[in-house]
Amino acid sequence: MRRNRKDAWNRRLIAENYLSVNDLIWPVFVHDKDVAREPVPSLPGVDRLSIDALLSDAGEAKNAGIPLIAIFPVINADLKSPRGEEALNPENLICRAVAAVKAAYPDLGVMTDVALDPFTDHGHDGLVKNGYVVNDETLEVLSKQAVIQAEAGSDVLAPSDMMDGRVGAIRNALDSAGLSDLRILAYAAKYASALYGPFRDAVGSASSLGTADKKTYQMDPANSDEALREVALDISEGADMVMVKPGIFYLDILWRIKEAFSVPTFAYQVSGEYAMVKAAGEKGWLDPEAAMSEALLSLKRAGADAILSYSALDIARKLSECSPKDST
Ligand code: PBG
Repeated sequence: MRRNRKDAWNRRLIAENYLSVNDLIWPVFVHDKDVAREPVPSLPGVDRLSIDALLSDAGEAKNAGIPLIAIFPVINADLKSPRGEEALNPENLICRAVAAVKAAYPDLGVMTDVALDPFTDHGHDGLVKNGYVVNDETLEVLSKQAVIQAEAGSDVLAPSDMMDGRVGAIRNALDSAGLSDLRILAYAAKYASALYGPFRDAVGSASSLGTADKKTYQMDPANSDEALREVALDISEGADMVMVKPGIFYLDILWRIKEAFSVPTFAYQVSGEYAMVKAAGEKGWLDPEAAMSEALLSLKRAGADAILSYSALDIARKLSECSPKDST
């Protein structure tokens, strides 16, 4: 076995998987403050951006060859409410950000989350009644939110809320609005994970959520068969692509889904996964760049067609410095 590992050129010849810029989706945060860039302490290297700064970074992403960016809004606290009405304001921050990016870079794909958590004062993804996140009433709001984001120019709508029937409801609403070309990327197997902490810091939902959790709608990390049922439902309801989230702790789920359905299957290297690598790197305990690339390559090996990662721009730049095969 070692003869084929002896030289770098030989290793390149037999590499079965590699990362390419075509695999990368870059999540970014936009805020409404005068500050161009506000660092997120729990996500080293990630800033909350003003729309101007977002435009500059979106340009960098496009130049680096990244096909799609995912924009998440940081909504001012005074605009948050129990029912998250700001989500349905066509002039809200996310709609303005999407419109600005699409005007500047029509060829760069833009994706947006369909969920209420950035907009609710309780931090949940849906409407709450008697302490419970209600399903069908939430679907009505999500459907409207999806149409508003689509009208602002979003190319890919990504329901991340884990309500039952959301993909079908959103697909119907889009069709009725004459928006049947819109793509839906379903956060199909989304687990109630401890790894979303830094994201919730970034969008400010951590303080709203307090000690509450999302276990009545996000999946139980103990389950695997259930993920296949979630994906089957989302595909039958009209999803174009499905996602597994988090990534590295759920490689088995990714593998099973890709094997079972052969549909475009994405993985989200979530905030906590990124932060762990960065933090260990800051302590000098490992090489963070090598660990990050290895993590993304593992997601590819497990079957991911594309990966959301906060390191996407760094990785894309690194890939452009060498041929794709060198990177392995
Ligand atoms: C919101 C949403 C979350 C993430 C993406 N969309 C957080 C949550 O469900 O609480 C997490 C992403 C990350 O941790 O990087 N629905």
